[in-house]
Amino acid sequence: MKKTVVRVVCAIGQAGQLGLKGGLPWEGNRSPEFVADVARFFDLTRGHVLLAGPKTIASVPDFARADRDLVVVRSSMDPEDTLQRFAGRVVFIGGGPPVWDAYARFVSHWDITRLPYGGPADRWFDARWLTAGGEVAKNHRDPSSHRDQ
Ligand SMILES: NC(=O)c1ccc[n+]([C@@H]2O[C@H](COP(=O)([O-])OP(=O)(O)OC[C@H]3O[C@@H](n4cnc5c(N)ncnc54)[C@H](OP(=O)(O)O)[C@@H]3O)[C@@H](O)[C@H]2O)c1
Repeated sequence: MKKTVVRVVCAIGQAGQLGLKGGLPWEGNRSPEFVADVARFFDLTRGHVLLAGPKTIASVPDFARADRDLVVVRSSMDPEDTLQRFAGRVVFIGGGPPVWDAYARFVSHWDITRLPYGGPADRWFDARWLTAGGEVAKNHRDPSSHRDQ
Protein backbone atom coordinates (compact mmCIF):
# COMPACT_ATOMS: atom_id res chain seq x y z
CA MET A 1 0.00 0.00 0.00
CA LYS A 2 1.29 3.47 -0.82
CA LYS A 3 2.26 5.64 2.12
CA THR A 4 1.80 9.34 2.61
CA VAL A 5 5.15 11.06 3.12
CA VAL A 6 4.63 13.72 5.79
CA ARG A 7 7.09 16.59 6.08
CA VAL A 8 7.38 20.08 7.54
CA VAL A 9 9.25 23.13 6.30
CA CYS A 10 9.05 26.04 8.69
CA ALA A 11 11.01 29.05 9.87
CA ILE A 12 11.51 30.27 13.39
CA GLY A 13 13.18 33.22 15.09
CA GLN A 14 16.11 32.81 17.45
CA ALA A 15 13.82 31.95 20.38
CA GLY A 16 11.28 29.90 18.41
CA GLN A 17 9.06 32.77 17.20
CA LEU A 18 6.63 31.50 14.54
CA GLY A 19 3.85 34.02 14.06
CA LEU A 20 2.64 37.51 14.99
CA LYS A 21 -0.80 39.06 14.43
CA GLY A 22 -1.72 36.45 11.82
CA GLY A 23 1.47 36.80 9.78
CA LEU A 24 5.13 35.95 10.03
CA PRO A 25 6.83 37.97 12.81
CA TRP A 26 9.45 39.19 10.30
CA GLU A 27 6.84 40.05 7.64
CA GLY A 28 8.16 42.67 5.21
CA ASN A 29 11.82 42.11 6.07
CA ARG A 30 13.59 42.19 2.69
CA SER A 31 17.01 41.06 3.98
CA PRO A 32 18.47 38.27 1.84
CA GLU A 33 18.08 35.46 4.40
CA PHE A 34 14.36 36.25 4.89
CA VAL A 35 13.66 36.54 1.16
CA ALA A 36 15.60 33.33 0.49
CA ASP A 37 13.67 31.48 3.19
CA VAL A 38 10.28 32.28 1.66
CA ALA A 39 11.54 31.35 -1.82
CA ARG A 40 12.91 28.07 -0.49
CA PHE A 41 9.59 27.22 1.17
CA PHE A 42 7.74 27.65 -2.11
CA ASP A 43 10.42 25.72 -4.04
CA LEU A 44 10.32 22.74 -1.69
CA THR A 45 6.54 22.52 -1.52
CA ARG A 46 5.92 23.00 -5.26
CA GLY A 47 3.88 20.17 -6.78
CA HIS A 48 3.04 18.71 -3.38
CA VAL A 49 0.20 18.99 -0.89
CA LEU A 50 0.27 21.84 1.63
CA LEU A 51 -2.06 21.03 4.46
CA ALA A 52 -2.62 23.73 7.11
CA GLY A 53 -5.09 25.55 9.30
CA PRO A 54 -7.46 28.16 7.83
CA LYS A 55 -5.36 31.22 8.74
CA THR A 56 -2.13 29.76 7.36
CA ILE A 57 -3.75 28.68 4.09
CA ALA A 58 -5.38 32.13 3.74
CA SER A 59 -1.92 33.72 3.96
CA VAL A 60 -0.55 31.80 0.92
CA PRO A 61 0.05 34.40 -1.80
CA ASP A 62 -1.80 34.14 -5.11
CA PHE A 63 1.35 33.33 -7.11
CA ALA A 64 1.83 30.11 -5.09
CA ARG A 65 -1.72 28.80 -5.33
CA ALA A 66 -1.57 27.28 -8.82
CA ASP A 67 1.37 24.90 -8.48
CA ARG A 68 0.59 23.06 -5.24
CA ASP A 69 -2.52 21.51 -3.69
CA LEU A 70 -3.72 23.60 -0.76
CA VAL A 71 -5.83 21.80 1.81
CA VAL A 72 -7.47 23.52 4.78
CA VAL A 73 -7.69 21.24 7.80
CA ARG A 74 -10.12 21.75 10.65
CA SER A 75 -10.14 20.47 14.21
CA SER A 76 -13.16 18.31 13.34
CA MET A 77 -11.04 16.27 10.88
CA ASP A 78 -9.23 13.10 11.94
CA PRO A 79 -5.49 13.52 11.14
CA GLU A 80 -4.94 9.87 10.17
CA ASP A 81 -7.96 9.77 7.84
CA THR A 82 -6.96 13.11 6.33
CA LEU A 83 -3.42 11.95 5.56
CA GLN A 84 -4.69 8.69 4.05
CA ARG A 85 -6.49 10.71 1.38
CA PHE A 86 -3.02 11.59 0.03
CA ALA A 87 -1.41 8.13 -0.13
CA GLY A 88 1.57 8.18 -2.52
CA ARG A 89 1.97 11.96 -2.20
CA VAL A 90 4.25 14.21 -0.21
CA VAL A 91 2.23 16.24 2.27
CA PHE A 92 3.73 19.29 3.98
CA ILE A 93 2.08 20.16 7.29
CA GLY A 94 2.07 23.96 7.26
CA GLY A 95 0.90 24.79 10.79
CA GLY A 96 -0.14 26.74 12.78
CA PRO A 97 0.68 25.33 16.21
CA PRO A 98 -2.60 23.44 16.87
CA VAL A 99 -2.15 21.68 13.51
CA TRP A 100 1.42 20.69 14.34
CA ASP A 101 0.16 19.50 17.76
CA ALA A 102 -2.17 17.11 15.93
CA TYR A 103 0.03 16.03 13.00
CA ALA A 104 3.58 16.04 14.49
CA ARG A 105 3.46 12.33 15.28
CA PHE A 106 3.26 11.52 11.56
CA VAL A 107 6.16 13.74 10.44
CA SER A 108 9.29 12.01 9.09
CA HIS A 109 11.29 15.12 8.28
CA TRP A 110 11.42 18.56 9.93
CA ASP A 111 13.18 21.26 7.93
CA ILE A 112 13.55 24.26 10.24
CA THR A 113 15.31 27.48 9.29
CA ARG A 114 16.40 29.56 12.29
CA LEU A 115 16.25 33.16 11.11
CA PRO A 116 18.08 36.12 12.70
CA TYR A 117 14.91 37.51 14.32
CA GLY A 118 14.74 38.48 18.00
CA GLY A 119 11.45 40.37 18.22
CA PRO A 120 7.98 39.60 19.55
CA ALA A 121 5.63 36.78 18.58
CA ASP A 122 2.27 35.35 19.53
CA ARG A 123 2.88 31.89 18.02
CA TRP A 124 5.86 29.80 19.10
CA PHE A 125 7.68 26.65 18.01
CA ASP A 126 7.30 23.75 20.45
CA ALA A 127 10.33 21.43 20.50
CA ARG A 128 8.10 18.60 21.74
CA TRP A 129 6.72 18.33 18.20
CA LEU A 130 10.06 16.82 17.11
CA THR A 131 9.56 13.72 19.25
CA ALA A 132 5.75 13.54 19.31
CA GLY A 133 4.43 9.99 19.31
CA GLY A 134 7.84 8.54 20.10
CA GLU A 135 7.84 5.68 22.56
CA VAL A 136 10.67 3.80 24.21
CA ALA A 137 10.11 0.25 25.39
CA LYS A 138 10.60 0.24 29.17
CA ASN A 139 13.38 -2.34 29.09
CA HIS A 140 15.34 -0.20 26.61
CA ARG A 141 15.52 2.83 28.86
CA ASP A 142 18.63 3.89 30.68
CA PRO A 143 17.60 3.28 34.32
CA SER A 144 20.00 5.96 35.64
CA SER A 145 18.12 8.71 33.82
CA HIS A 146 14.59 7.58 34.70
CA ARG A 147 13.40 7.74 38.29
CA ASP A 148 10.05 6.16 37.46
CA GLN A 149 11.47 2.67 36.80
N1 LIG B 1 6.98 30.59 10.79
C1 LIG B 1 6.35 29.65 10.10
O1 LIG B 1 6.96 28.81 9.44
C2 LIG B 1 4.85 29.59 10.16
C3 LIG B 1 4.16 28.53 9.53
C4 LIG B 1 2.78 28.48 9.64
C5 LIG B 1 2.09 29.46 10.33
N2 LIG B 1 2.78 30.48 10.91
C6 LIG B 1 2.09 31.54 11.64
O2 LIG B 1 1.13 30.98 12.55
C7 LIG B 1 -0.02 31.83 12.60
C8 LIG B 1 -1.24 31.07 12.10
O3 LIG B 1 -1.45 29.92 12.89
P1 LIG B 1 -2.74 29.75 13.81
O4 LIG B 1 -2.51 28.54 14.67
O5 LIG B 1 -3.05 31.04 14.47
O6 LIG B 1 -3.93 29.50 12.76
P2 LIG B 1 -4.24 28.36 11.68
O7 LIG B 1 -3.20 28.32 10.64
O8 LIG B 1 -5.63 28.62 11.24
O9 LIG B 1 -4.17 26.96 12.45
C9 LIG B 1 -4.93 26.73 13.64
C10 LIG B 1 -6.33 26.22 13.33
O10 LIG B 1 -6.26 25.00 12.62
C11 LIG B 1 -7.46 24.28 12.85
N3 LIG B 1 -7.14 22.85 13.03
C12 LIG B 1 -7.05 21.97 12.02
N4 LIG B 1 -6.81 20.73 12.45
C13 LIG B 1 -6.75 20.81 13.79
C14 LIG B 1 -6.58 19.83 14.80
N5 LIG B 1 -6.45 18.53 14.51
N6 LIG B 1 -6.56 20.24 16.08
C15 LIG B 1 -6.72 21.54 16.39
N7 LIG B 1 -6.93 22.52 15.46
C16 LIG B 1 -6.95 22.16 14.17
C17 LIG B 1 -8.16 24.93 14.05
O11 LIG B 1 -9.28 25.67 13.54
P3 LIG B 1 -10.81 25.12 13.72
O12 LIG B 1 -10.95 24.66 15.14
O13 LIG B 1 -11.61 26.35 13.41
O14 LIG B 1 -10.99 24.03 12.72
C18 LIG B 1 -7.11 25.89 14.58
O15 LIG B 1 -7.64 27.04 15.16
C19 LIG B 1 0.28 33.02 11.71
O16 LIG B 1 0.84 34.06 12.48
C20 LIG B 1 1.29 32.45 10.72
O17 LIG B 1 2.10 33.44 10.13
C21 LIG B 1 4.13 30.55 10.83
